Amino acid sequence: MELRVWREMLDPYYFAVEELLVKFRNLQKEFHDSNQYCPIEEVQGRVKSISSILDKVQKKQYELGDVEDKIEDIAGIRIICQFKEDIDKVVSLIKNRTDMTLKSEKDYIRNPKSSGYQSYHMILYYDVNMVTETKTIQVEIQIRTMGMNFWATIEHSLQYKYKRNIPEHIKERLLNTARAVVNLDEEMSTVRDEIMDAQNAFTIKDRLVSDILKNIQGLFRVANTREVMKIQDEFYKVYQNGNVEQLKHFSKQLDIITEGYRAQNLS
Ligand code: GTP
Ligand code: MG
Repeated sequence: MELRVWREMLDPYYFAVEELLVKFRNLQKEFHDSNQYCPIEEVQGRVKSISSILDKVQKKQYELGDVEDKIEDIAGIRIICQFKEDIDKVVSLIKNRTDMTLKSEKDYIRNPKSSGYQSYHMILYYDVNMVTETKTIQVEIQIRTMGMNFWATIEHSLQYKYKRNIPEHIKERLLNTARAVVNLDEEMSTVRDEIMDAQNAFTIKDRLVSDILKNIQGLFRVANTREVMKIQDEFYKVYQNGNVEQLKHFSKQLDIITEGYRAQNLS
C-alpha cells in the first residue's frame, strides 16, 4: 500500500481517538463540576503505527485488505482508574452511551492472563463523520487501575527488551509482582472511602477559595478599595489557619457583603 493510501485509511482513526479523548475528558469534567467522585483518573489514546500494523498483519497472516476488519486496536483508548471498583462503573458508562456500540469485551481482571496481565478490554464500533461519508471503525478501550497499568507498562518494556521471549525466572518474578498488584488494589479498596473523603475535602476547599477570590475581585469594582483590601487581608488570615469550616463561614459572610453592594447598585 502506498503511504498516501495508509494516511487516508488512518485518518478516521486519528479523528476517532481525538474525539473520544475529548468525550471522556468531558465526562471527567462533568463529574468534577457536579462535585461527584469521578471513576476516571486519566484518559490516554493512540493510533497504531503503520509498522505495528504491518507486524501484526505478518504475525497473524492477514490479507492487507482485511486490516481494518481484523485489527481491532488500530484506534486505542486507555482509561486509568484509581480503584478496582471504578472499572465496572466505567464499563457501564460506556455501555450506556449511544455514540458507540459494543462488539465484544474481555475481562482480564476476573480472568487474568497467564502472564499476570490484568485489564478490562472492550471493542467498540464508532462512527466518524467525514466530509463525504460516515465511516464506522473499531476502537479498543482498555480499562485498568493505576496499579494494573504500572504492571502492564513494565511488562511491556520487558517484552520489548527480550523480543517477546522473557526468560522463565523473570516471568516468575512478573507473576509475583502481578499478585502484589492484586493485593495493592484490594488494600486500596478497603481504604477507598477514607481516600475519597480526603480528596473530596480537598476539592471543597479548592472551590471555596476560588469562590472567595472571585467575590473579592467583584467587590473591587463596586466597593471602596481600602475596604476590599481589608477583606482580602482577612481572607489570607483565615486561609493560613487552614480550617475549612472557617473558610466556609468567611465565604458566607462575603456573600452577604457582596449581596449588600449588589442591592445598593440596583437601587
Ligand atoms: P492482540 O493480537 O495483541 O490484539 O491480542 P488479542 O486480540 O488476543 O487481544 P487481547 O485482548 O489479548 O490484547 C489486546 C491488547 O492488550 C494488546 O495489544 C496489549 O496492548 C494488551 N495486552 C494483552 N496481553 C498483555 C500482556 O500479557 N502484557 C501486556 N503488557 N499487555 C497485554
Ligand atoms: Mg486484539
